[in-house]
Amino acid sequence: LDNGLMRTPPMGWLAWERFRCDIDCQNDPYNCISEQLFMDMADRLSEDGWKELGYVYVNIDDCWSSKDRDAQGRLQPDPKRFPRGIPHLAQYVHDRGLKLGIYGDMGTLTCGGYPGTTLDKIETDAQTFADWGIDMLKLDGCYSNSSYQEQGYPMMSKALNATGRPIGYSCSWPAYQGGLPPKVNYTLLGQICNLWRNYDDIQDSWDSVMGIVDWFFDNQDALQPAAAPGQWNDPDMLIIGDFSLSLDQSRAQMALWSIMAAPLFMSNDLRTISSAARSVLQNKAVISINQDPLGIQGRRLLKEKSGIQVFQRPLSKGASALVFFSRRSDMPYRYTTSLKTLGYQPGVFEVFDVFSEQRLPELKDSTQFTVSINPSGVVMWYIYPAADRWKEAEFEGFSK
Ligand code: DGJ
Repeated sequence: LDNGLMRTPPMGWLAWERFRCDIDCQNDPYNCISEQLFMDMADRLSEDGWKELGYVYVNIDDCWSSKDRDAQGRLQPDPKRFPRGIPHLAQYVHDRGLKLGIYGDMGTLTCGGYPGTTLDKIETDAQTFADWGIDMLKLDGCYSNSSYQEQGYPMMSKALNATGRPIGYSCSWPAYQGGLPPKVNYTLLGQICNLWRNYDDIQDSWDSVMGIVDWFFDNQDALQPAAAPGQWNDPDMLIIGDFSLSLDQSRAQMALWSIMAAPLFMSNDLRTISSAARSVLQNKAVISINQDPLGIQGRRLLKEKSGIQVFQRPLSKGASALVFFSRRSDMPYRYTTSLKTLGYQPGVFEVFDVFSEQRLPELKDSTQFTVSINPSGVVMWYIYPAADRWKEAEFEGFSK
């Protein structure tokens, strides 16, 4: 969507995967969906080095609202859990240099059973969000059908634009239509939404991450061309810092989401996150790859019988990112190849290893090299032609 927003994939925090529909503030005040939770996360984003790296969205998901609309037909937050109202929360977030996202549903009810946005309520809800100072809307698609969605999602895009407030627009539409052409029209989506969920919800498990990765790369011919500045495929939240991923798996999620030019919405508890998870999420080189201004989504190049897969994303200034990913479960695998084999032009290349944060020796396209890839782990490289000596300064910027 060409509204000037999200020219690189949006980054921030989103409540759903980690905090779900916990509305029990009586017994679980620290984790329930309440203004306090979002204020806590805003504090962490602004004080713990996240904001400076681009993680600026604080996003509310389902279960924020009251069970009924107000007397004027407007959505309203649950008064017990958001006693000071959404404008107050937006102010709190904005005062910290952050942005506030909210959640709605194109249908009669949200998935959690709260009031949805029916066709007759689209303009009211868009205006309410704008009046509140909202910066992003995720519009879910429970309790509706395909013809309803076909009308509603473009209508909301127009209605948000008509408010005059810049509001990033995340559409769950394709996820409810199987995610693939001909049912899904990615040309149209690119015109009406800034990002869109294509596929299943992520869960806190490595299996879930792998299911998503396989679906997106198996369908890369349909999906990869849809991404561009202002319009992104969304494989769903980062679960790094939660309960299920090892350090290697965390690096793998971060690397593959960056190859996919995916939005980086963490769903974790920033109040208690481990320093290991934080350093994966705050790795400057992988973030700069994710945020590359060309906005070209990467692709899977190879699936070896050995269980090694190779991914690549073209980057600005002639650079590129490579990911070597192991699906094995035995021991670090020594994978040998050459840049020539991976399709690189003749020449000499500079290589920066993203997670070891080391510069590697110059590499000729025809030279065989070996990377050691841990089980369910990655080796990720930022790579550029060595002739471009002037790029060295930029490259140094990746190291701490
Ligand atoms: C389905 C969405 O895909 C999830 O991300 C989350 O928003 C839930 N609905 C909320 O009910």
